[in-house]
Formats: sequence, structure tokens, C-alpha cells
Amino acid sequence: MSARPDAPVAKTTVLTLQHKKESGERISMLTAYDYPTARALDAAGLDALLVGDSLAMVVLGHESTLAVTMDEMLHHARAVARGAKRALLVADMPFLSYQAEIAEAVRNAGRFLKEAGMDAVKLEGGRDQADTIRAIVRAGIPVMGHLGLQPQSIRRLGGFRAQARTAEAASDLLGDALALEAAGCFAIVLESVPEKVAAAVTARLHVPTIGIGAGAGTDGQVLVSHDLLGLYEPTPRFARRYASLADEIVRAGQAFRRDVESGDFPGPGRSFAIPEEEWGAFLATLAGRS
Ligand code: KIV
Repeated sequence: MSARPDAPVAKTTVLTLQHKKESGERISMLTAYDYPTARALDAAGLDALLVGDSLAMVVLGHESTLAVTMDEMLHHARAVARGAKRALLVADMPFLSYQAEIAEAVRNAGRFLKEAGMDAVKLEGGRDQADTIRAIVRAGIPVMGHLGLQPQSIRRLGGFRAQARTAEAASDLLGDALALEAAGCFAIVLESVPEKVAAAVTARLHVPTIGIGAGAGTDGQVLVSHDLLGLYEPTPRFARRYASLADEIVRAGQAFRRDVESGDFPGPGRSFAIPEEEWGAFLATLAGRS
């Protein structure tokens, strides 16, 4: 995977992302949910890996992100932390792990750092979540905000639809973004908002914005890795597919099935030998039994 697997790695931190915004370098983030993907994406040099609650949909097969639990998120976060040594690791706080009580939110956020090796958490919501964010940050836990389309609120929003498309909604979004920055968020995801609105919000913030379906004017971009890799259907129109791994898996599975059925697999060299004297002794045992 790497030419020098033991070489020391320069760990990406929240300060790295801040410096990138200040120097105009774009930030790249992808989701990861398991050890091999985290290892590969870390080797690819992504700035940040997000253990997104999109896990519920693209890995666990639910229709929305609402069903995924703290325990499931922690399980996958631990696997990602074992695989990635350099990227900043961010875990999504799942639905109802932070909305009910501030103390519970702080404890759940802390579990991602303490038990799963994450560097930061992400949670959805605007000024309504500012007190919670302040309390989590006060506990020493970096928080990434998430505005625009908030998938944990799809029941209230009426589905996965673009947000901030009126002047009022756009200025609401700006107010929320400023509130999240004031509450201590180190970065903010902007999901499915018009390009011009995302660019205007980005220009007003000191902390970086990371867009998904928010055009080119944000400080960075994030995609769900299963969309990028062709592992989930349908691909959202704002995503770009860089590989077709589901097709590759079907092709490999079919080829294996054909080789098993024809007897071509396993073929020579893919089995273990028993020493001659042991084989002779075994044959004698067999003969003694018959
Ligand atoms: O859960 C997730 O994958 C996310 C991204 C869409 C940013 O929150």
C-alpha cells in the first residue's frame, strides 16, 4: 500500500484544515466505514475521513440515516481508526445521540475519542445546537457542524431536497453558520445548498466549509465514498463516480462461480501438502479402521 509503511506519518489536525483555508488550499474528505477502505483512502492522502451516519444507508441498507445506533457507529469508527494513521478522523453523532440532553451529547461525543480513536465529531443542526456544541467543545472535543440538507431531519424536511433556495432560507443558513462558528465548530459541512449561497457563507466564515452538493465555492469537498466508488445506487447528481466497484464485484463473483463449477479453481499450487511419512501413517490408520 505504501512504499515505506514504517515511515512516520504527519497527522492531520483541525489546525491543518484551518491553515488550508487561510492559504487557499482545498480540503478533501471522504467517508470511510471499515479498515481496508480507511487504509486505502489514508494512503490516497485525503485530509479527513468521515465515519458518516450514511453508514446506515450505504453499508447497512436502511432507507435513511435515522436507524444507526451509537454502538454501530463506534464499531465502524474503531475499524477506521485501525486503518488510518494520517487523516483527520471525524465521526458522525447518530440521530438521538445528542438532541435530547446536553450531558448525554458530551458523553456520547467523548466515547468517539476515548473508545474509538476518532479525532473529532460531526453533528447536524444550526443555532438550536449551539449550546450543545459549546459544551462538547468545552470538554476538549472538536466539533464539525453540518448545515443545509440535514439527513437526520428528512421527516421534517419532507425528503432529501436542496435547502436555502429562498432569500429568507439563505440568510437563515448564514445565521446558523455564524452561530456554529461562534459556538466553536472547527469546520462546517454544507450539504445540498445553492452554489452562490455556499460561496457567500464560506466568505463570511473564518472556519473552513466543506461542501457536498454545494458547488465549487466552499473550502473543501466531501463525498460518500460508496458514490465515488460505484458501490451504491442511485448516485446523486452532484457526485462524481471514479470507479465501478459493484460491477467489478459481480464480475469477480461470476468468474469464481464459473471456475468452481468447471473445477478450474483451486488448481495447482493452492493447497497444502502432507509429508510422505505422515501420509503413509494415515493410510495405515485408514486401513486399520476398515
Ligand atoms: O453521513 C455522511 O456521509 C455525511 C456526509 C454526507 C457529509 O454526513
